[in-house]
Amino acid sequence: MTTGMAWSSSLISAALVAASYVVQPVFAHSAFWHPSMYGFNVTAQTFPYDNRPVAPIKNMPFSKWWFHNHLDYPPHPSDVFLLPAGGTTTAEIACNKGATSYFASSEGGDIRNPANPNDVCPGSKSITYHTNGIDDLEGCALGIAYKSEARDVQPGDFTVFSVNQTCVWTRFTEFKVPERMPPCPPGGCVCAFFWIHSPFGGGEENYMNGFKCNVTGSTSTVPLATAKVPRRCGEDKRNNKLFSAPGNCTYGAKQPFYWFNLEGNNMFEGPFSPPVYNDLYNFRDGAQDDIFQDSYVTIPEPAPNAALPVLKDVSTPQTQTQTQSESSSSTSTSSTIGNGGGPITVTITVTASTGALPSATAVSSSSSSSGGASSW
Ligand SMILES: *[C@@H]1O[C@H](CO)[C@@H](O)[C@H](O)[C@H]1NC(C)=O
Ligand SMILES: *[C@@H]1O[C@H](CO)[C@@H](O)[C@H](O)[C@H]1NC(C)=O
Ligand SMILES: *[C@@H]1O[C@H](CO)[C@@H](O)[C@H](O)[C@H]1NC(C)=O
Ligand SMILES: *[C@@H]1O[C@H](CO)[C@@H](O)[C@H](O)[C@H]1NC(C)=O
Repeated sequence: MTTGMAWSSSLISAALVAASYVVQPVFAHSAFWHPSMYGFNVTAQTFPYDNRPVAPIKNMPFSKWWFHNHLDYPPHPSDVFLLPAGGTTTAEIACNKGATSYFASSEGGDIRNPANPNDVCPGSKSITYHTNGIDDLEGCALGIAYKSEARDVQPGDFTVFSVNQTCVWTRFTEFKVPERMPPCPPGGCVCAFFWIHSPFGGGEENYMNGFKCNVTGSTSTVPLATAKVPRRCGEDKRNNKLFSAPGNCTYGAKQPFYWFNLEGNNMFEGPFSPPVYNDLYNFRDGAQDDIFQDSYVTIPEPAPNAALPVLKDVSTPQTQTQTQSESSSSTSTSSTIGNGGGPITVTITVTASTGALPSATAVSSSSSSSGGASSW
């Protein structure tokens, strides 16, 4: 009897050990992987805690979450991620370095899926990288700071310049680079990958991987505008908001989301309504073409009923010069905001005879698919 009980209890503890091994996945989460990144060779053992690039960020003091606490693990100076102005760049996003082109320096070697090169996490279900499927993607973003030293970069220095709303579904993920990106300073720029997953994909958490980057092929020198905090303005059926509120959006250069940490947050949304990189926060899919100092004629203070901003037509810069003239003529111009789903077309009517400021009126607002995740 005694022997039998000892035997069965050791069987149970063996089963428990096996179970705890199984529920603690070796491969999970996701990160941006490139030799230009900070923390390229950081493993689970490098820090007293698991600070691999894929480890999620939450409830941390600033020093622990900013650049993933990888500033002491810089890339080689020759490793720079290139951003061709007006072109497309391809990033690799995976749950483990071994699932990327850089497997050679991964502890576990090459774990890529020969049958599917786009497999983000070979051998694991998509929920391990926080999505229940292709309908549960919330997008990710690349931000840029026009500074050469990562240690000089402050949270407000990052501007989101590209979004992929179907991130993190494929290992090879394309990012469109705005055509008017100006050149970086002589030492290059500093970039970062940002991602917050769906509320159905697991607990609330942020992802941030910094990397060295450089803009090539610039045709414009107009700097980026000062980045503002994004606002939740899209249709949000999960929270019973049936219509988007375009006047409530932040337009132009926007900061990345800093959320759910102990310090340095710029977003204060609750755990079930995370800020996400898609139309819900006016992050159109692809290049963020309206982030420059001359992108808009006017951007009113956002509010649910605010007037819509007026994009400057940079190809015909004379369009808006009549606003302060003495003539009583009226001009109408229309612009399309954003380049992704659900563009908002605004028409401005400028009547200058009174000398008053021009009034912008949204005559047509065809933001049909500005519903964020639901449009996917
Ligand atoms: C990362 O590790 C690989 C392999 O050991 C090495 O060749 C490379 O120089 C390392 N990179 C950095 C940035 O430390
Ligand atoms: C997002 O990445 C996927 C996979 O690389 C690509 O097919 C898609 O065109 C990208 N979307 C944008 C808007 O760049
Ligand atoms: C960045 O790219 C520009 C344009 O190609 C080039 O002149 C410059 O040397 C590059 N800087 C770095 C640090 O790679
Ligand atoms: C407007 O934006 C604020 C800030 O993100 C948000 O809290 C509020 O719910 C939004 N209101 C509407 C009607 O979109």
